[in-house]
Amino acid sequence: MEQKFIPKSLAASKASGKVTWQTPSNIALVKYWGKKNPQLPENTSISFTLSNCHTTTTLTYGKRKDLRGTYDFKVVLDGKEQEDFKPKIETFFKRIEKYVPFLREYHFVIDTKNSFPHSSGIASSASGMSAIALCLMSIEKEININLTEEAFYKKASFLARLGSGSACRSVKGDIVVWGEHENIEGSSDLYGVPYVDGVAAVFKNYQDTILLIDKGEKQVSSTVGHNLMHGHPFAAQRFIQAQENINKIKDIFANSDVDKFIELVESEALTLHAMMMTSNPYFILMKPNTLQVINEVWAYRKKTGSKLCFTLDAGANVHLLYPESEKEPVQEFIKNKLSVYCKDQSYIHDCVGTGAKQLTI
Ligand code: DP6
Repeated sequence: MEQKFIPKSLAASKASGKVTWQTPSNIALVKYWGKKNPQLPENTSISFTLSNCHTTTTLTYGKRKDLRGTYDFKVVLDGKEQEDFKPKIETFFKRIEKYVPFLREYHFVIDTKNSFPHSSGIASSASGMSAIALCLMSIEKEININLTEEAFYKKASFLARLGSGSACRSVKGDIVVWGEHENIEGSSDLYGVPYVDGVAAVFKNYQDTILLIDKGEKQVSSTVGHNLMHGHPFAAQRFIQAQENINKIKDIFANSDVDKFIELVESEALTLHAMMMTSNPYFILMKPNTLQVINEVWAYRKKTGSKLCFTLDAGANVHLLYPESEKEPVQEFIKNKLSVYCKDQSYIHDCVGTGAKQLTI
């Protein structure tokens, strides 16, 4: 299957050029936690593509004169060269070289910036890796003009996955599935696909406010975390549960069942953290304020009948999900009651978005 992404002949023709993509972050509803080599998920995951949290990457490329050494690139974040990002990109390049034969022929400058603060604890790998993948695909498209739009995006997601699993869900909007599932046609372990089965209007413009609880470095990288699922006593059951949750969320989306959505999404978040708490070694990534927020959300829901709920990434920050119709009261509640639990009272309002965009700058 992977073979279809190896181009027949792709000699780099252009001497130099520049391309820019803006790619969004995403928030998983059914979580990816556990993978096999090479970057294949143990279970299907599904996410909302976000809109305001995004990465903008300009890839400048020029033919190399000296082809000694492996790759020739530098990474610039917010105008400053970043040596410490290079190993991750180098690993990414090694994984994708087979599919991107011109990779060694060019010198690259990867100039990138995030719309959210770097130290916010918001994972930039999903938007960052998908941006590089899309830039490389734009170069491929110049050489292979017959590439269809569908093939372009599929391969972009395929490449992004090899950079960071969740990045393959950051190419398209508005809901994306990654990982083969018997009840989702076209789903694949190799790339993310837009979820095109029935989705009720309420989920089309769902809101996500990200509370920045802890801006520090993550205690455990997601790669280390995924590996802890190997030999985990509850792993097999978790992977079965995730496949079942995909069936449930399909019905929820089709039937506009916001109450069941809340139940499923919160359970997925807590299960993810339960997996970390029961691995060897074990971790607690939630902070006291994460729990304060969760309890406040539950109390608010009880008191007002609101449909506000939460989900979590592999960190302390809380994503608050709610229908657009509740935007005003919920955002008031966040400002008045929840912002005190955030570092420097900071949070980001976001919502479901449409996917990556090429920019001409
Ligand atoms: C908890 O995609 O960051 O956010 O493939 O090792 O780069 P790598 O992991 P990554 O894992 C994300 C895990 C998660 C859940 C999710 O987004 O599905």
